[in-house]
Amino acid sequence: MLSKKTVVLGVTGSIAAYKAVDLASKLTQEGATVEVAMTPAATEFVSPLTFRAITGRPVVTDMFDSDVEFSIEHVALAERADVVVVAPATADIIARMAAGMADDTVCCTVLATKAPVIVAPAMHAGMYQNAVTQDNIRRLKARGFHIAGPAHGRLASGGVGPGRFVEVEELLAAIRQVLGKSVGLAGRAVLVTAGGTQEPIDPVRFVGNHSSGKMGYAIAEAARDRGATVTLVAAPNSLPDPAGVKVVRVGRAVEMREAVLKAAVGKDALTMAAAVADYQPKVVSESKMKKGAMSLNLELVRTPDILAEVKGIPIKVGFAAESENLLVNARAKLKQKDLDLIVANDITLPGSGFGSDNDRVSLIDRRGKVEDLPLMSKREVAEKVLDRVETFLKQMRTPSRKRIG
Ligand code: PMT
Repeated sequence: MLSKKTVVLGVTGSIAAYKAVDLASKLTQEGATVEVAMTPAATEFVSPLTFRAITGRPVVTDMFDSDVEFSIEHVALAERADVVVVAPATADIIARMAAGMADDTVCCTVLATKAPVIVAPAMHAGMYQNAVTQDNIRRLKARGFHIAGPAHGRLASGGVGPGRFVEVEELLAAIRQVLGKSVGLAGRAVLVTAGGTQEPIDPVRFVGNHSSGKMGYAIAEAARDRGATVTLVAAPNSLPDPAGVKVVRVGRAVEMREAVLKAAVGKDALTMAAAVADYQPKVVSESKMKKGAMSLNLELVRTPDILAEVKGIPIKVGFAAESENLLVNARAKLKQKDLDLIVANDITLPGSGFGSDNDRVSLIDRRGKVEDLPLMSKREVAEKVLDRVETFLKQMRTPSRKRIG
């Protein structure tokens, strides 16, 4: 998403300026061209040379500096920006942007640009809470600026409160989301499931599986980056919540059912990558079961089939992890659960499926058409799945489309 995009990063005079170096580095690694503009105060915290080394681009610190390529036309940055990110943004720059001033490279760029602007405030809690700052932020919001953060936490002043620079990952997500507004899932609401449910036997044991959640999380992040509003119902896993995604954590299949049925209302698409237990213990022991007889029979009963139960959602995508008869079994699930698409993965292939970073899958649609994909990262699989979701949603707007069952 970020490759071929120009991100203009406006850095202002806050101790959090060093975090903007990390942001510039991550954006550059993702393929963006990062043009950095710094206020004079920002250069007191981080050297322009640091940004120059990270981005491989000249850094603009002075509107009238004859050494940089933008000097003649000092609004050149504003014009080439796909997005302008002011991070960190001090109370001072927020006030000056709100007042429409143009007396330094950052203000000038913000005033001149037609690109979306993201502002990441970072300041002392008292300054942030001051009615003037709050009023300025409201004014920026009313003009369509996106405000990322601040976080609540420990501040450079030693105190604790609001005003902490938002996590870089969150800011990256906000940038992707803003850029994603122009792509396929903007305005859409997508529900995703991930992870493996855990069916308790007693307070310390459960019936579970090896799902790491990576596949579902990759779909949630990719949908977010395409501009969708994303809800992720996550069974237990060790991944951090993706920024910009509403995460609902659940444990058992019955809890996932409840969360999915509730969240499905009003969604455009459901993509279920979760490995949901098909069976749960009939009786859950309230206390830890003691070792006793040489054998123990555990009676299991069926869990609800969530995907089959969800009705009324325009697009339903399922996953099938199979160790034999991949296509036959996946097709049967597609039909039985009334899906638009099923992602069939052969879990016997090395480096693919549960817990891995990659997957080799086949996509099967309602017509039975199969697309075999090579081994690729889960994010790439997610993009392929979402390409299909986008196409289905577009077709649904075409009145002649008939559902083929
Ligand atoms: O999490 P990772 O480590 O990245 O691994 C990803 C994955 C291998 C778990 C994922 O790619 C995957 O294949 N998920 C589906 C696992 C599976 O075998 O599902 P299933 O064949 O039991 O079910 C088919 C579909 O129905 C799935 O979309 C499942 O979410 C859904 N289902 C299953 C049972 C049930 N009771 N309710 C359901 O909704």
